[in-house]
Amino acid sequence: MAGLTKVSAAAPPVLDIDPFATRYLENPYHFHEVLRGAGPIVHIPKYDMYAVGRYAEVQSAFADWKNFSSAAGTGLGHVQKGSALRTPGPIVEADPPEHTKLRSTLNRILSPAVIRGWRDDFEAEAERRVAAIVQRGEFDAVTDLVEPFILRVLPDAMGLDDEGRENLLPIGDLTGNALGPRNDLFIESERRVEPLLPWFNSKFERAAMLPGGFGEKIWQASDTGDIETEKVMPLIRTFLRGGIDTGVSGISSMIWLLACNPEQWSALKAEPKLVRQAFDEALRLETPAQSLFRTTRGSFAFAGCQLDDDVKVMCCLAAANRDPAQWADADNYNVKRSTIGHIAFGTGIHVCIGQMVARLEGEAILAALLRHTEILEMNGPARHKLSNTARRLAALPIRVGRKAN
Ligand code: HEM
Repeated sequence: MAGLTKVSAAAPPVLDIDPFATRYLENPYHFHEVLRGAGPIVHIPKYDMYAVGRYAEVQSAFADWKNFSSAAGTGLGHVQKGSALRTPGPIVEADPPEHTKLRSTLNRILSPAVIRGWRDDFEAEAERRVAAIVQRGEFDAVTDLVEPFILRVLPDAMGLDDEGRENLLPIGDLTGNALGPRNDLFIESERRVEPLLPWFNSKFERAAMLPGGFGEKIWQASDTGDIETEKVMPLIRTFLRGGIDTGVSGISSMIWLLACNPEQWSALKAEPKLVRQAFDEALRLETPAQSLFRTTRGSFAFAGCQLDDDVKVMCCLAAANRDPAQWADADNYNVKRSTIGHIAFGTGIHVCIGQMVARLEGEAILAALLRHTEILEMNGPARHKLSNTARRLAALPIRVGRKAN
């Protein structure tokens, strides 16, 4: 495993910055460079945490769940003690053996065959929405296209009824902020979500799930004892918290990158089979979940540095996905690049269980855009939402249409 050694070593170098300072959240690329440049692993005193941003070490940490545990939470807060004390998420914040059994049950419920069965519905929905919106010539790709599309297809597949689906957007926003420190961003998004909690907590009861969705199948797995009953609702919530905002982020970023890089749009028009690569390349460059955390278990040497026990480790997937040691022209969007090995979906035992779903969504929207418009260009400045750990556009003014002869 890259980076992990048994010899005793020196403490990691100190990086005396605040990764959650507004200037770094506004310009994450600068933060990535600082982090990668400071060493294979660093100590950040402000949060008494370690941080990794180079590709090899992020990969190693995610591959090594014994030393880099998820059970103390995948955010900065240590969920087993202090003010962040809470029940850990049933899958994403579980280590083996607990994780293994649940993951295999969920892999069965969300098997590739099940997801392939959703393709026609996702494509029909993308076709309908894109066909309607290109008639307008100008629109906001985030609020007029991507958000309504994702809020339709994923909750439908789960079996959620229509009422209040838009609440999933501020809840997704809170998810990204709550992984960071308890700063103004976190507190403000928590305040917005507070009144929505009764809705969120009631929607996933057994009686509320529509028949045929994978929410119902998760409930059924509790009848056979494959999933403990008390884990069902938190699990269903995890799917929506983890699947909505990330999907909106990835697809919006892809449209943004294509609109800003006309030669890449032209390359896709010439070779539409590159849609999957175009989506994955956008995830690499604009990684939706920029950072996730692990917690050291025991004191051990890693990348030539001696680590202390029970310390949070910020694993910056976004910095790894732009590491020039791993990617040629790392900061350029290139739809012809082989994106194999990007870690926007994580890696190791917790690798995203919804990645096929996300790709289905991204490909459906992009294929429909390719069919319906010759031009895809910016129609004003894009705006990002500030978030402690998510990279997410809030506004993306786009112009579409036919080329003038
Ligand atoms: C572009 C969209 C998406 C991105 C970038 C993304 C990213 C990720 C990442 C980085 C992880 C690893 C977490 C960790 O190691 O701590 C993960 C896990 C997970 N994702 Fe996704 N995700 C996306 C879409 C989805 C969708 C659509 C769903 C639901 C259908 C979903 C459900 C989950 C679940 C349940 C896990 C936990 C898996 C486990 O712990 O074994 N994600 N995702």
